[in-house]
Amino acid sequence: MFHVVDTEAFDRKRLDQLCELATAVRRVAKTAEGSRFLQQLLPTRRAMLYFTQPSTRTFLSMNNACHVLGIRTSEIRDPEVSSEVKGETFEDSIRTFSSYVDLIVMRTPEPGYAARAAALMDTIPRPVPIINAGSGRDQHPTQALLDIYTLERSFEDRGGIDGRTIGMMGDLKRGRTVRSLSRLMCHYEDVRLVYIAPPAFEIEPDIRAFLDSHEIAYVETGRLHEVLPELDAIYVTRMQSEHDTAGESANVDLSDFSIDERELAQMKPDAVIMHPLPRGREIHPRVDADPRAMYWRQERNGMWMRVALLATIFDSQDAILEADTRGLYRED
Ligand code: NCD
Repeated sequence: MFHVVDTEAFDRKRLDQLCELATAVRRVAKTAEGSRFLQQLLPTRRAMLYFTQPSTRTFLSMNNACHVLGIRTSEIRDPEVSSEVKGETFEDSIRTFSSYVDLIVMRTPEPGYAARAAALMDTIPRPVPIINAGSGRDQHPTQALLDIYTLERSFEDRGGIDGRTIGMMGDLKRGRTVRSLSRLMCHYEDVRLVYIAPPAFEIEPDIRAFLDSHEIAYVETGRLHEVLPELDAIYVTRMQSEHDTAGESANVDLSDFSIDERELAQMKPDAVIMHPLPRGREIHPRVDADPRAMYWRQERNGMWMRVALLATIFDSQDAILEADTRGLYRED
């Protein structure tokens, strides 16, 4: 069993294994027999999805990733309908969920709660794994996993992520996806990061300290057009207005930090455009038709990567890899 509270849960070996497994799952799931094989792997397992902050993709992809493996799910998405309104503590609520299920996937508007849940598990007789599906402004480790998988797939025939120049743009101050993805970059060789944001939304000192201590090369700039031609990938993010404390978003103009036809013309022909979604105006919908637009595939990759993660947590990875290697469920 292992918790996924932050990106510390993964090293390069684990990342490579998860990417390989996600691809195996994708191939096996292509046929009806393959899907049935996956569904009978974990039918005795149950998962709790505890999402007290809005979510579309992470919730649905986790839910459906569970179902791909036959894991049954229950959910609480609104704290108003749980006993926390009667004054039950967070710890007691989590302990209660753990009494009924084998895994808790959780998202909270505030940082630190997934870590608290994992710490609680070390003190009770029937601990279950905790997966952090987004902890306030802090971390979003499973998003970073699917981002890594999408980058690896995109650069498959160019030697993978090692040696690439990757831009990250938008509200870098409050975006947890950028924080988590930046941290995973310490497992790749010769990666250069280019952070593109207005001064008000620059990366926070903790990311700089992390990059410095891991000797990851990075630059920060407010000028997208100067750096666009050198990027192998650009990871675009939206304004994180839900984290406003005093209406900060209203005072920042992100219109120079967006992708449209003019930017497409300046990008490398084989560059990759990613976005964790949901998007605001930072990627024009007409960009979707460009072959470099990877965000819809990235979204679907999220489900396969979460299947890979769940299969690893419940020790079903070998069965999937074997089925894939032996081509048991391939289309003819
Ligand atoms: C991200 C999140 O929730 O942090 N969304 C997601 O999980 N796909 C990014 C965002 O909301 O901007």
